[in-house]
Amino acid sequence: KKLSIIGMPMDLGQMRRGVDMGPSAIRYAGINERLRVLFDEIEDLGDIAIGRPEVKIDPNSNLRNLELVAEKNSLLADQVDKIIESGSFPLVLGGDHSIAIGTLAGVSKHYKNLGVIWYDAHGDLNTAETSPSGNIHGMPLAASLGLGHEMLTQLGGFAPKVKPENIVIIGARALDEGEKELIKEMGIKVFTMHEIDRLGMAAVIEETVNYLKDRTDGVHLSLDLDGLDPTDAPGVGTPVTGGISYRESHLAMEMLAEAKVITSAEFVEVNPILDEKNKTAVAAVALMGSLFGEKLL
Ligand code: ARG
Ligand code: MN
Ligand code: MN
Ligand code: MN
Repeated sequence: KKLSIIGMPMDLGQMRRGVDMGPSAIRYAGINERLRVLFDEIEDLGDIAIGRPEVKIDPNSNLRNLELVAEKNSLLADQVDKIIESGSFPLVLGGDHSIAIGTLAGVSKHYKNLGVIWYDAHGDLNTAETSPSGNIHGMPLAASLGLGHEMLTQLGGFAPKVKPENIVIIGARALDEGEKELIKEMGIKVFTMHEIDRLGMAAVIEETVNYLKDRTDGVHLSLDLDGLDPTDAPGVGTPVTGGISYRESHLAMEMLAEAKVITSAEFVEVNPILDEKNKTAVAAVALMGSLFGEKLL
């Protein structure tokens, strides 16, 4: 088993600087040491070159930094594609959640029925028409469904990357009106905080695995650290109270490891500028340990 790590220091999908330092913060939190023992081989391919583009942030844009987000994501898509081709497991470190557009473009080429677990406080199902912010990090799941601007939906030359029935959203507690409508219209499976409280995380993951197991030939985990409660993961740009606990998240990762369903993953929205002593990056690395089969005894 081989793991390939790739950093995506992208902060153009939203307006708070600092999330571009996410990959560094996660590496500093000891990702190599933690995961080394869980794989035969582990390689860190470094970061995708985002550069430091002098972007004039247009407060009125409804698709902020569209060209740059699309261009940089296509670099990520190519890299992820190559990793899978080489038989290795791709682990992408964000960066804001707009990078899922690139990751999914690279991953989905390799599967007929890619499943996606979207672990997040948000749905990220907006388009330019429904977005309250114009921030592309609120749009990657919509783009992957083929909805939105074609520079995003057609990344890699094909759409959609994922079918609505192959998606499970876990941890939702902040959905915009347009996102709610879309979820209903498309019949996307969502475990909101209500279901997590009511059923417990164990049942939520059991249901998720059963739901995805038969209909998919691979499952991508897109984990936005803001899915966790801000007390456990304060270093995120769009925190929402009442989130998934650190312990519930560990259980979720352990159960996904046991089920052996995850074929690619990304951990996004770590912003060390907003963090408390790198707590959020440390949490991300700890969750990766569980996801890749770490056991206490
Ligand atoms: N729904 C809000 C928006 O579209 C917030 C999105 C937050 N997304 C994220 N990946 N943190 O602007
Ligand atoms: Mn390929
Ligand atoms: Mn989020
Ligand atoms: Mn997100």
